[in-house]
This record gives sequence, structure tokens and C-alpha cells, in this order.
Amino acid sequence: MTIGLRPTATIFLVICAAVTIFMAAGSADESRPLPAPAKRAVDFAKDIKPLFRDTCYKCHGASKKESGLRLDRRDDALNGGDGGPAFVAGKSAESLLIKYVAGLDPDVVMPPEGDKLSDDQIGLLRAWIDQGAKWPEGE
Ligand code: HEC
Repeated sequence: MTIGLRPTATIFLVICAAVTIFMAAGSADESRPLPAPAKRAVDFAKDIKPLFRDTCYKCHGASKKESGLRLDRRDDALNGGDGGPAFVAGKSAESLLIKYVAGLDPDVVMPPEGDKLSDDQIGLLRAWIDQGAKWPEGE
């Protein structure tokens, strides 16, 4: 009897442990804090454009537009890429671009290679989006 039950009990315990670990990992992920938006007024030409140029144009610019997204031209950037709008003015925490640069999606992190953006850089991007994602014509 007991000999027959043991493997079943063991499998049950292993499954319980796996589920517990899985749930713990999942909740840790969700609570990973997003860097806070910068508190100052953000200027597109001074603060955001150089950041996009240095870290994103290579793959989202004139020569390549990965996933249909260009970040070097106002109208293209506002339209977003194959996955829809990259950012929604006023809603940085829900914006795809912020999710990706902050690494909230374990499968897609932007930029995908090289140094990740710093918390300060993510904070600037968040503040820019929250302050209306102002992108002057001609920039
Ligand atoms: C080395 C190339 C590379 C660089 C640099 C890069 N990306 Fe990407 N990006 C990609 C690729 C490839 C995809 C498609 C990824 C996927 O969907 O799995 C993508 C997709 C995206 C998307 C989703 C577009 C959509 O609509 O599907 C966003 C938003 C994005 N990148 C933002 C950025 C930002 C912001 C930067 C700069 C901080 C950046 N990326 C830098 C290669 C790059």
C-alpha cells in the first residue's frame, strides 16, 4: 500500500513546489518597480532626441526600421510600429516603449544589445511622455 502511494505523493509534492516557485517568480516580476518619472520639465530636442539618436536610431531609423518603428521622424514615431503606438501621451507606465526599455517584458528588452538605459534615462522618457510627449514639428 504505502509503496504504491509514495511515487504519487512525491509527484504531488514536486508539483506543489513547482507551482509555489512559479507563483513567487511571477509576483516578483509584476512588482518590479518602474523608475519614477523625472520631476523637471523635459525638452524633446535637448533631452529625448539625443537619447533616441544614440540608443535607438541604429535599428529604428532611416536604414533599419525594426518591427515597423522609426524613432527619427515625428510622424512615424507617433504612428508607432507593428505592435501599435509605442507611447501614449500622458500614460508612460502603459506605453510599450517604457515597458521595453525598463525590461518589464522578459522577452523583449530595448535596446536588445549593449548597455540598458539607466533609471535616469527611463525617468526622462517617462516624464516626456507624461508631460504630453511633445515632439515639435521639424524635429
Ligand atoms: C539592435 C537593434 C535595436 C535597437 C538598438 C533598438 N531596438 Fe527596438 N526593436 C528591435 C527589434 C528587433 C524589435 C522587434 C522585437 C520583437 O518584437 O520581438 C524592436 C521593437 C521595438 C518596439 C516595439 C515596436 C512594435 O510596434 O512592435 C519598441 C517600442 C522599441 N523597439 C523601442 C526601442 C527603443 C526606445 C530603443 C532605444 C532605447 C530601441 N528600441 C533600440 C531592435 C532594436
